[in-house]
Amino acid sequence: MKSFFIVIPPGLETLATSELEEKYQTIFGEAPRVQSTTHGGIEILASYEHGFALNYFLKIPTRILLRIDSYKCRDFPKLYKKFSSVDWNQYIRAGEFPQMFITTLKSRLINTKKMENTIVEAISKYYKKKTPPKLPPEYSENYQAPQIHVRVCDDSLTLSIDTSGERLDRRGMKSFTSGAPIRESFAYSLLWSARKYMQNLDGLSFLDPMCGSGTFLLEAAYFHTSNWNRDFSFESMPLIKGVEFIEKKFEIKGIPIFKNITGNDIDKEMIEKTKVINSITPENSNVSTQYADLFSDQLPEIKSSTDILLVNPPYGKRLKNRVGTAKYYAQLIKRIASFHHPKVFGVVFPKTEGPQPQDPDGYTKVFTTTFSNCGIKVDYSLFCQDQLK
Ligand SMILES: C[S@@+](CC[C@H](N)C(=O)[O-])C[C@H]1O[C@@H](n2cnc3c(N)ncnc32)[C@H](O)[C@@H]1O
Repeated sequence: MKSFFIVIPPGLETLATSELEEKYQTIFGEAPRVQSTTHGGIEILASYEHGFALNYFLKIPTRILLRIDSYKCRDFPKLYKKFSSVDWNQYIRAGEFPQMFITTLKSRLINTKKMENTIVEAISKYYKKKTPPKLPPEYSENYQAPQIHVRVCDDSLTLSIDTSGERLDRRGMKSFTSGAPIRESFAYSLLWSARKYMQNLDGLSFLDPMCGSGTFLLEAAYFHTSNWNRDFSFESMPLIKGVEFIEKKFEIKGIPIFKNITGNDIDKEMIEKTKVINSITPENSNVSTQYADLFSDQLPEIKSSTDILLVNPPYGKRLKNRVGTAKYYAQLIKRIASFHHPKVFGVVFPKTEGPQPQDPDGYTKVFTTTFSNCGIKVDYSLFCQDQLK
């Protein structure tokens, strides 16, 4: 068993744990061996097969790290000795040097630049002793060594190697964004928070009345599938030779399928751009976008009732929003409840905008969390129709 650290955006730990537990059980037929859950991460024990495959099916985490070693380390000679004895050719190809992320806290080793230089010297010594094999032709000239993460806290050093590569919220699909997009992993986690109030898993309807570049729409369309549309850094590690992986592209059983997905927005240009989304979504999802002002009296007619509605409205200054105050968010919530009547709906609003909005008639707040979106601290509230609670 190896130790893997799943990096989670702070504030989303509870949702990420439930995603991990449910999907791991469904895919591997067993519960994940969770060792600890901390602010910003979950540590588990798993085989290489299972640990690396987390990249394929988890959508809330930022990245998955493989723990290589941990030990007490108070001085540079020990740092050098330990790093020159790691078997780097198992993780990195062709004698490349990894990009390093070093953090230290309450420890004797505090000079991160000097630590980086020491680690480079130690890896050079290793490469001199164990000449790395040449880069095989299937790896293009663009090969990049996986990043390493070195964390020293209270003189205990942990060395991890990144198995993901680009952040996991980079799904590898969308080629445009709006002024203030929500990060894909946040969008997915908010959908995850809402789904547990749904009984019918096959054919949910979803609406984002302020869809911008359509992040929620794409996350809803791919809600039940793996992350198959991109590469991950573990795929280039020499140590995976002989490891048998699950198929990269698959649908995860028991996860709801969103069939009717609608996005509205008052930005006509953005609506034009989002028209392509339907052509890149799975066959069983239908995505449509249209111009509509949420506060207008002439909103397009709604053809069927909405199961889940999520909205990430403009934040005050950033988009020069006409209201952008607590009053605005209260009006928005009232409008959604009275006009759209979704079974559940969730709203993201900036933390600084005063008191939390009241529950609208017929709804009760069932979940809240706080996270940081594009550097802005936001509150998320989920409301559920009283009869569904
Ligand atoms: C923060 S952005 C949403 C970003 C989106 N979640 C994404 O990931 O791209 C807010 C959006 O609300 C839209 N908007 C503002 N007022 C609106 C209104 N009254 N009705 C509909 N859309 C509105 C803006 O045009 C903008 O695209």
